[in-house]
Amino acid sequence: MKILLVGSGGREHALALGLQADLEVTELHCAPGNSGIAQIAKVHPLDISDNAAILCLAQELDVDLVVVGPELPLVNGVSDVLRRAGIATFGPSKAAAQLEGSKNFAKEVMHDAGVATARSATCTTPAEIEKALAQFGKPYVVKDDGLAGGKGVVVTNDYKEALEHALGCQKVVIEEFLDGPEVSLFGISDGKTILAMQPAQDFKRAFNGDEGPNTGGMGAYSPLPWAPSDIIEQTHREVLAPIIAEMAARGTPFVGLLYAGLSLTDHGIRVIEFNVRFGDPETQVLIPRLKTPLATLLYKAATRDLENETLEWSDDSAVAVVLAADGYPSAPQTIDVGSEFSTITDTYIFYAGGGRLLSATGLGSDLTEARDRAYRAISQIQCQGTFYRSDIALNASVAEKGN
Ligand code: AMP
Ligand code: GLY
Repeated sequence: MKILLVGSGGREHALALGLQADLEVTELHCAPGNSGIAQIAKVHPLDISDNAAILCLAQELDVDLVVVGPELPLVNGVSDVLRRAGIATFGPSKAAAQLEGSKNFAKEVMHDAGVATARSATCTTPAEIEKALAQFGKPYVVKDDGLAGGKGVVVTNDYKEALEHALGCQKVVIEEFLDGPEVSLFGISDGKTILAMQPAQDFKRAFNGDEGPNTGGMGAYSPLPWAPSDIIEQTHREVLAPIIAEMAARGTPFVGLLYAGLSLTDHGIRVIEFNVRFGDPETQVLIPRLKTPLATLLYKAATRDLENETLEWSDDSAVAVVLAADGYPSAPQTIDVGSEFSTITDTYIFYAGGGRLLSATGLGSDLTEARDRAYRAISQIQCQGTFYRSDIALNASVAEKGN
């Protein structure tokens, strides 16, 4: 099988590693890729916002499957373009990608599917905004309806900040604050069947102790020893399967990766948000633990053939720590960390580029061992002008040891 993977982040490096390990894969291409991906796949220059260029490359390479990593080309409808040309594609259509592309659309689908989420109001006028802020109260949760490159969501106790953010959006979703630990749980769907992956937890804030600005994610770990033992089954039953059924009933089946961002509240599981692609850095802890051959799995999803599939996982724990450039996320410095560090044992280094330079994923028999390995690698690689959080998976590893 010949595959083209679109994207250039740590997530794509982890996906490339998983795809390449599948014995069915004869050629792995990635565009635009990065220096780490170039060590395991053939990389090609590409502007990922150019649907025609993606189609052209896929046709030129004569691939059997395209796997689309980031949300931008998905929301731009690249999957429709590829499928119209007869190319099997892992990634939702433009219509289905609206689950990430529009917060209001996601709310409507959840409502129709009976999936529990924060109560919310969608506002377009200052009067509606003021009314909604007063109704839901502190902490204020204000979300730009559209894709905003990670800058769309403001959670704050400061009324002025909440109001300003809301007034700056054309359409804004204001909602109740959900109090509970956050979990990322992904499903792989062929449009009818969805397979729930293992849960992971992501660390969104830049600095230790969940301080500092929101980022794309500074680290992750999986599994979650503290989570309810039936979290996978419950999320499948209450969230993933109903959404897939609703999207199919609307005539816009969801084929690809459905990312459920969940809050485990005292009242049960609530959806915080959906994304329509693998999470970064959650993918860097999930793919090293997944034993099911990845390329075959994603091909089956793309060709509507998941019905008899199951996912198999290793018993290892995995912890990923992100090394970021100083100034990330608002104004990251340009840093070249090179690529000579990719052979540290028990540890994967996934390159990214941009503000998040790379991540180190340690594997171990428990979170403590996995953490130690990830941090050993990161402390060797760190250099001037970079930083990382030192508390990724710390509380969970201490709690696990205590049990
Ligand atoms: P983003 O990844 O930029 O969409 O940021 C979303 C983050 O904002 C989530 O990971 C949560 O930490 C937080 N958030 C969003 N909605 C809520 C909510 N209703 N209650 C509490 N936190 C929220
Ligand atoms: N880790 C959060 C995201 O991928 O959106």
